[in-house]
Amino acid sequence: MSRPAGQRLFNVPTELSSFVGRRAELAEVMGFLGKARLVTLTGPGGVGKTRLALRAAARVQRAFPDGVWLVELARLSDPAAVADEVSRALGLRDQSVRSSAPVLSRFIAAKRILLVLDNCEHVLGACADLVTALLRACPRLRVLTTSRQPLGLDGEQNWRVPSLSLPAAPGPIEPGAALRWEAVRLFADRAGSRLQDFAITPGNAQAVVQLCQRLDGIPLAIELAAARTPALTAEQIEARLDDRFALLTTGNRSGETRHQTLRAVLDWTHGLLTADERLLWHRLSVFPAGFQLDAAEAVCSDRRLPKQAILGLIASLVEQSVVSPEHRQAQVRYRLLETIQEYGKQKLTAAGDEPAARRRHRDWYASMAAAAESEYAHPGQLQAFDHLNAEHANLRAALQFCLSSHGEAEAGVTMAAQLWLYWEGRFHVSEGREWLTALLAVRPPAGPARAKALWAAGYLALLQSDVAAATPLLEESRRLARQMGDSAALAYATQFLGFAALYQGDMARSATLAEEGLRLHRIAGNGPGAAGALLHLGITRSCQGDLDAAGRLYEESLTISEDEGDRWIRSNTLFGLGIVGWLRADNAGALRREKESLRLKHNMDDRTGIALCLEALGWITAADDHPERAATLLGAAQSIWDALLTETYEPWKGYHNACVARVRSGLGPDAFDTAFRKGTAMSITQAVSYALEEPESPRSHQLAALRQPESLTEREHEVAALVAQGLSNKEIAVRLVVSPRTAESHVRHILNKLGFDSRIQIATWMEASAHPEDRTRREVSP
Ligand SMILES: Nc1ncnc2c1ncn2[C@@H]1O[C@H](COP(=O)(O)OP(=O)(O)OP(=O)(O)O)[C@@H](O)[C@H]1O
Ligand SMILES: [Mg+2]
Repeated sequence: MSRPAGQRLFNVPTELSSFVGRRAELAEVMGFLGKARLVTLTGPGGVGKTRLALRAAARVQRAFPDGVWLVELARLSDPAAVADEVSRALGLRDQSVRSSAPVLSRFIAAKRILLVLDNCEHVLGACADLVTALLRACPRLRVLTTSRQPLGLDGEQNWRVPSLSLPAAPGPIEPGAALRWEAVRLFADRAGSRLQDFAITPGNAQAVVQLCQRLDGIPLAIELAAARTPALTAEQIEARLDDRFALLTTGNRSGETRHQTLRAVLDWTHGLLTADERLLWHRLSVFPAGFQLDAAEAVCSDRRLPKQAILGLIASLVEQSVVSPEHRQAQVRYRLLETIQEYGKQKLTAAGDEPAARRRHRDWYASMAAAAESEYAHPGQLQAFDHLNAEHANLRAALQFCLSSHGEAEAGVTMAAQLWLYWEGRFHVSEGREWLTALLAVRPPAGPARAKALWAAGYLALLQSDVAAATPLLEESRRLARQMGDSAALAYATQFLGFAALYQGDMARSATLAEEGLRLHRIAGNGPGAAGALLHLGITRSCQGDLDAAGRLYEESLTISEDEGDRWIRSNTLFGLGIVGWLRADNAGALRREKESLRLKHNMDDRTGIALCLEALGWITAADDHPERAATLLGAAQSIWDALLTETYEPWKGYHNACVARVRSGLGPDAFDTAFRKGTAMSITQAVSYALEEPESPRSHQLAALRQPESLTEREHEVAALVAQGLSNKEIAVRLVVSPRTAESHVRHILNKLGFDSRIQIATWMEASAHPEDRTRREVSP
């Protein structure tokens, strides 16, 4: 999709630890990127391939106006998912088909993009195939990869990342001279971060240099050794490592030797840990992509390792550079570097503990999925989606465990089905379908879990307009639900069968089934389900031209979703009401509804919804006799459909085509194209602001109305009230008898939850919450 010039198109994370040296290497890599279309940085684990690639990518940003995109493949075990990861990194959303080389090629086309594929070694063949296809189809694409082995492609510029620079010969050395070497600088930096007054002195310079030589200048090995500085001096570390290395050949820094060196340092580090620390390291290796403390406490504890001990053990593993903390949006997450994780996993497997650890991992993420589902129709909806999204790789690993372990298919379908709205809400429709299909193929017992998985799979298929696949799934779900007397599943299966009929244009059947679904949801006491069925029936009536009925049904749905705090259904209902208004020639009312819907959609980052609203606003604007503006809105919608790799929804195609024809003939093809292109050139935020006729504001600021008081805990409310009184963190700490740190963290949480940047915004929001009528008026009027 086109984006405005000057916007930073770069998804590479900011570096958390300082970067040392590598000037010549950076220049070399940048030079390669100027000449070759595929550059691969190879070398053993821990030598610094990833860090170097990220630095180089940051440096060459300007040469790639369509963006530099990092794709992390380290924890990917499924080669078929490589293209999906690339799509996701590029911001393409999966609403239609599984990403594939042709789909990606179509998107990248002539764009100037640099793709950075990090850690390709696990999925080497799939990377090689994809890169070959993309480079062939996209003339201005460049690819930078890191891998333990080259991809082996023609034209690939393969470059072995050297170790950090070191003095060649042993012997006495001045501190100043020692610090000219990168390996010594890295050691000094990392030791200094453990022990504040650490310095390279005439007394320790030689030992540090020898140590770095022992470690072959491998950054990861140096970091692990430096982590020992609080307890040991450089000389002591050097002496202790000596034994380990007695058997290693040194001098020749080939990949094989460096591999052995790192292995020896890992063994050494491992050997110095307590039994509990070691056990935790092994168990932490089941998290494919980082974890939060509560997850580690649940997954890694048992009789041998009590839950209360985990926090302290993690802290000491962080101290020893085994675990790396990452601060993201006021939360601490932890991860193990690739090599460290592999080491832990080998130990875990060797001890026979892997199945138990993976089961506990699965249990934790299964309960997360269940808890999230209970928030789907409530104010916690967006947070639930975002929370699941942050744990996506862990959810995937848990589902994989269910799929590959005997007797776990039922737990797997339960989990995959509970994620149904998440798959839709965060653009993982294809993936959700694949999990459900694979797990259902294992034939889990014919119980409630299977009935639900069947309707969930059917629903996701419908979202991709795959009525042929959806229908038998929904039919089977209905049969099973009837047999078991499972009214909840029966309600959904029936309603979605009606949805399938809507897709096929069979309005009479759609209405009958939606009515039946509505009745069943009511019997099951499922308010949000009923709101969804009312919406569906409203759409059907609207398509049948019964606008009064449609309006009534939508209003009823709106009342329920407002009571429940369900923004998802509410935004769709507002969209439907806008269409009804427009069909009744109430353009002002229609605009108001569509804009309200658009704000919600933008805040939820529901791109399909945004595109639909932009289109509807285009139809209304055309009816209002502003054809140029209408064409621009249609163009803005089109560029979103393109990025979603899909097109407008079936029931609305007629309106859409009629509007395009009308506006085009009104303006003439040239003026139409110009106005349309103005829309396709807009970013989503620009398009939304254009449509709302308001200044641009980021997604998080789009709708202060979404910031309901319930989103804060009681304690956070107290803190917010004090912020609103103008108290500083210190004053708040005194007032609430907590530490200033705790106060600060509450404030951070509040800012984060509400999507604010400043304390003033919190104060204004508190004021508005105290006078909700004012707030509504301010926000609803455009
Ligand atoms: N130039 C550097 N300056 C500072 N730290 C570095 C540098 N190069 C590497 N490191 C650190 O060394 C560790 C290993 O580096 P990195 O993850 O880049 O290695 P890698 O070769 O990609 O390893 P793997 O093959 O396991 O993916 C990291 O903690 C990284 O921050
Ligand atoms: Mg790496």
